[in-house]
Amino acid sequence: MKTLAVVGLQWGDEGKGKIVDLLALEHDVIVRCQGGSNAGHTVVVDGEKYALHLVPSGILTPGKINVIANGVVIDLAGLVGEIEGLRARGVEVSGNLMISDRAHVVMDYHRALDRAQEAKRSGTARIGTTGRGIGPAYADKYRRSGFRMGDVLDSEFLRRVIVDRIEENNFLLSEYYGAEEVSLEETLASIEHAAEFLRPFVTDTALHLRRFVSEGKRLLFEGAQGALLDIDFGTYPYVTSSNTTTAGIPAGTGLPPSTVGEVLGVLKAYTTRVGAGPFPSELEDEAGASLRDRGGEFGTTTGRARRCGWFDAVIARQSVALNGATGIALTKLDVLDGFESIMLTTAYELDGNSIDSLPAAASALERCRPVYEKMPGWNIDTSQARSWDDLPERARRYVERIEELAGCPVTMVSVGRERSAVIMRDMQG
Ligand code: GDP
Ligand code: IMO
Ligand code: MG
Repeated sequence: MKTLAVVGLQWGDEGKGKIVDLLALEHDVIVRCQGGSNAGHTVVVDGEKYALHLVPSGILTPGKINVIANGVVIDLAGLVGEIEGLRARGVEVSGNLMISDRAHVVMDYHRALDRAQEAKRSGTARIGTTGRGIGPAYADKYRRSGFRMGDVLDSEFLRRVIVDRIEENNFLLSEYYGAEEVSLEETLASIEHAAEFLRPFVTDTALHLRRFVSEGKRLLFEGAQGALLDIDFGTYPYVTSSNTTTAGIPAGTGLPPSTVGEVLGVLKAYTTRVGAGPFPSELEDEAGASLRDRGGEFGTTTGRARRCGWFDAVIARQSVALNGATGIALTKLDVLDGFESIMLTTAYELDGNSIDSLPAAASALERCRPVYEKMPGWNIDTSQARSWDDLPERARRYVERIEELAGCPVTMVSVGRERSAVIMRDMQG
């Protein structure tokens, strides 16, 4: 049985949502395995723009099953709002969505702690989180103090256990962080309201997923964030709190690792990052501002301006290897249309030495200077290109250079926001 994983290879926002929406057409089941509503996946279909945070992008295609699996952390009110928002726009959300009873819940105090912790951090200690409570929710999962979807559906259990948790977290919030406490009654009321709304969707998704695999259904795993935000291999501590690479799929779904088949890594034709932390190829000049303007680089979740820089092949190589990518979807090539020349980072200079892999320590990566290779721009509009031959010669050379440097074939090139703005590459040709 072949499955496909679509994962981000940079710092998130590579265009995973657009690629998943497109590939959902030829799959049966679309699965989110990790992350939470820190994710923001923008999908444009027939001029209509949708911003998805927890619901898999397959929801926009009728007849597909969408699964929020156990590795995801769920903001209850956020998910209810997302489902209501989709329904209000005529998108069906009913039996086509399943939510794991093992997925952890992001509580009010997780969001409050996330914000209080960020406010207390100063200077380089600040991570620039999305403020969605992701770090504290995963921390509670691993210290075995979390609530899972199945728990919040059991009102009697919830009421018995939550009192101590609220007391502990309120102590931290008020005594250590000097922040406002959360109210027990308000927390309970909002959980109980959302839990009733979500109850019909909650099930043992691992069982269903194993059944889907045995029935020969085609599964598509939708990654959130990107490899450089991975808790183990990202630019720690400026990362998110889950495994964002394909390694997160088995644990996040309950399917064995052997289920993961093809892996499509999504790379933007340049680099962006939202939030703090080292970024060797960052451009703080006019070229960076131009990438931000042309690419509309503002966060889907927080609206923050994304930091922009040239393509970084050191990152691409590492992320291809970490994920076991078998193909690359290169997005936003059209954004580079207006540039006279384009730079590619091929290595770093660190303390006088040339290196071609990422150092583990953020402080070392902060000192890395990009070693650039210059390529000529094409200065031609590529947004209407729909086949490899439609692309100008210089754009094709740029794509080919990226696949050489990354060590993986570019099988798809995206040249616009719309579902149809894509070039499927015939690798035989
Ligand atoms: P994700 O988090 O990886 O799904 O990416 P986001 O949705 O946060 O950010 C990608 C942004 O780029 C979205 O606004 C997309 O609509 C847009 N986008 C995706 N692919 C392309 C493309 O090929 N060209 C252009 N111009 N925009 C794109
Ligand atoms: P998608 O799925 C880009 C970043 C935050 C911050 C760091 C930690 O849309 O690609 P967190 O709230 O997770 O504790 O924040 O991770 N971050 C993202 N950046 N795209 C995302 O998701 C992100 N999710 C988290 O900006 O730097
Ligand atoms: Mg995003």
